Amino acid sequence: MTANFISSSAAPSASASALPGDLLPGRMPVHVAVIMDGNGRWAKQRGLPRIMGHRKGVDTLKKLLRCCRDWGIGALTAYAFSTENWGRPTHEVDFLMTLFERVLRQELKEMMAEDVRIQFVGNLAALPETLQREIDRAVTQTQANQGIRFSVATNYGGREEILQACRAIATQVQQGDLNPEDIDESLFSRHLYTADISDPDLLIRTSGEMRISNFLLWQLAYSEFYITDTLWPDFDTAEFHQAMKAFQKRDRRFGKISNSDSGD
Ligand code: IPE
Ligand code: IPE
Ligand code: MG
Repeated sequence: MTANFISSSAAPSASASALPGDLLPGRMPVHVAVIMDGNGRWAKQRGLPRIMGHRKGVDTLKKLLRCCRDWGIGALTAYAFSTENWGRPTHEVDFLMTLFERVLRQELKEMMAEDVRIQFVGNLAALPETLQREIDRAVTQTQANQGIRFSVATNYGGREEILQACRAIATQVQQGDLNPEDIDESLFSRHLYTADISDPDLLIRTSGEMRISNFLLWQLAYSEFYITDTLWPDFDTAEFHQAMKAFQKRDRRFGKISNSDSGD
């Protein structure tokens, strides 16, 4: 793969000026999360091995990251590998691990140039050591960058994340460092992998599946969902534009009533 993570020949610098005229800058999501699903089906439709779908899916992610940056979105979280995905055939798992490693190595320079701050969420200790090294390198080198926060969920499971938070909190209680009464939503959130990023405003899932597949179970409590039948490798800027338009029409009530109804 030779393409850069963010193509240097594309649009100019990050600014809301790149935003399509029918989107309101003041109503853009701060944080977009995406379940990148449908790579296998995309390949199968073309008579190709599933791994070709994963390879094409990387290009989709690169373009989405650039688009988010150009449209002034502060954070993008992408589901790359779930705790359940280990159950796939060994050759597919091995291919994905090698792909992640290679993409990280190839794109680090470009991420630096584009001011992207990358981080990983998930149980990273169980990943191959060579991949862990690339992750450490990319996270360390980009940590002072001020641009878009790019989180990659790798060996991520929402239930596992909640359990490890419970264990850490229980240990603090056991050691007498924390009172059970002081465990509130804010403290709990700080023990999740996503401790320092806001909850997603919008979750996009491609390939039409109406499920959450163990992604960000805690953090998606009040996110808007946008599900499209488009398979991940075909999800392009025009599709993302549609998702943004849909998002801007949503009435996010958070359990309250609409402002427009408050006079009743
Ligand atoms: C998503 O595409 C990528 C990963 C889970 C790694 P899939 O590989 O799940 O593609 P489908 O759902 O089988 O089409
Ligand atoms: C969710 O997709 C995980 C990722 C996109 C990484 P899956 O393809 O694994 O989800 P299910 O099996 O359809 O629920
Ligand atoms: Mg799938």
